Amino acid sequence: MATHPIGIIMNGVTGRMGTNQHLIRSILAIREQGGVALPNGETLMPDPVLVGRNEAKLEALASKYGLNRIETDLEQALADECNVIYFDAQTTSRRAAAIKQAISAGKHIYCEKPTATSLDEALELAELANKAGVKNGVVQDKLFLPGLLKLKRLIDSHFFGDIYSVKLDFGYWVFEGDWQEGQRPSWNYREEDGGGIIVDMFAHWRYVIDNLFGEIQSLSCLGATHIRKRVDEDGQPYKATADDAAYAIFELENGIVVQANSSWVTRVDRDDLLTIHVDGKYGSAVAGLRDCKIQHRVMTPRPTWNPDIPNPIAFQELWQQVPDNEPYENGFKAQWELFLKHVHTDSPFPWDLLEGAKGTQLSDLGLQAWRERKWVGVPKLAATVPAKHI
Ligand SMILES: NC(=O)c1ccc[n+]([C@@H]2O[C@H](COP(=O)([O-])OP(=O)(O)OC[C@H]3O[C@@H](n4cnc5c(N)ncnc54)[C@H](O)[C@@H]3O)[C@@H](O)[C@H]2O)c1
Repeated sequence: MATHPIGIIMNGVTGRMGTNQHLIRSILAIREQGGVALPNGETLMPDPVLVGRNEAKLEALASKYGLNRIETDLEQALADECNVIYFDAQTTSRRAAAIKQAISAGKHIYCEKPTATSLDEALELAELANKAGVKNGVVQDKLFLPGLLKLKRLIDSHFFGDIYSVKLDFGYWVFEGDWQEGQRPSWNYREEDGGGIIVDMFAHWRYVIDNLFGEIQSLSCLGATHIRKRVDEDGQPYKATADDAAYAIFELENGIVVQANSSWVTRVDRDDLLTIHVDGKYGSAVAGLRDCKIQHRVMTPRPTWNPDIPNPIAFQELWQQVPDNEPYENGFKAQWELFLKHVHTDSPFPWDLLEGAKGTQLSDLGLQAWRERKWVGVPKLAATVPAKHI
């Protein structure tokens, strides 16, 4: 059976996400498993070219993983017809310009979220891609996390009955950089460089809420920059100009209320770095990244408020774990495989640049709600130009 090589330009591949999630855990893992199997028995084999500004870093990465294609000039990589996909995991503020270049060169587009730092630019990317007839996709990795897949299983099997509310709690302490090195790149804490937790995390909350719970009708959001001075990768102090925490409420069209706390300034006392607590008529669930626990209505204890005695109920012990029941892939890899198949066979891939733009829309509206201190509505977005390839 034939094996089809598929050339992928990987830009921003020396970064945290580019190296770990996209190169090592996705593209190299797919190569090691022998490619992506197609329904007709043939195979797709990703053939990456590592693109960036620092040749030495690219060479080191390529030789470490047995690859031989590197390029410091994006135009050159785009000119090579073997490369059919352009992938971007650069810092957010650099993404739109590079994607436009790649669309002009006729490449299919796959990229990290957020696709751009403003809604106008995110929509422009979606329109340009559709006009050019290139396939396009945006990373929506949280949907592929085992914990969220289990939650989806519960929703699809009507475990909850009516869902009333969702508490989404994300965050951990990101060190300031003075006494312990920060575990995230410093640009994340500078607004002028595309940083900020609202821009970063609302892009995720949009697709998580859309895909699991329903359409968002309106929101309120209070952002904060709790830590105003941090120390960067070179040991230099800098002013943190971007929000490092956001306290939001989303009201969905179906009446569900979603509270979302996002923070890089919180010490974890939860089962996981992200927990999603869902309360419904017939049961509740708490999903983390991998696990998901449930409490059915018949297992619900009857607490009474009495601070004069020690708490008599071991609340945490009254939950049951949802079993795996299936093997789970790395979420980034699972989505890459679907995108590669989409490019080659036209199989469905719903998470396109327009869906990505919805994430940026929610970030923009979150920032607006914070700035203006009011509830804001979420207008519907639609592609104004129909996709050529559909
Ligand atoms: N899907 C997720 O869960 C997730 C998680 C974290 C970050 N991200 C997104 O991934 C993207 C990258 O984040 P990261 O944490 O890997 O950042 P990073 O700083 O580690 O990597 C950024 C990459 O961009 C390149 N770059 C930066 N400035 C450049 C310049 N002037 N010229 C050429 N290249 C340049 C860097 O060399 C590096 O390869 C961001 O858009 C971020 O929002 C997504």
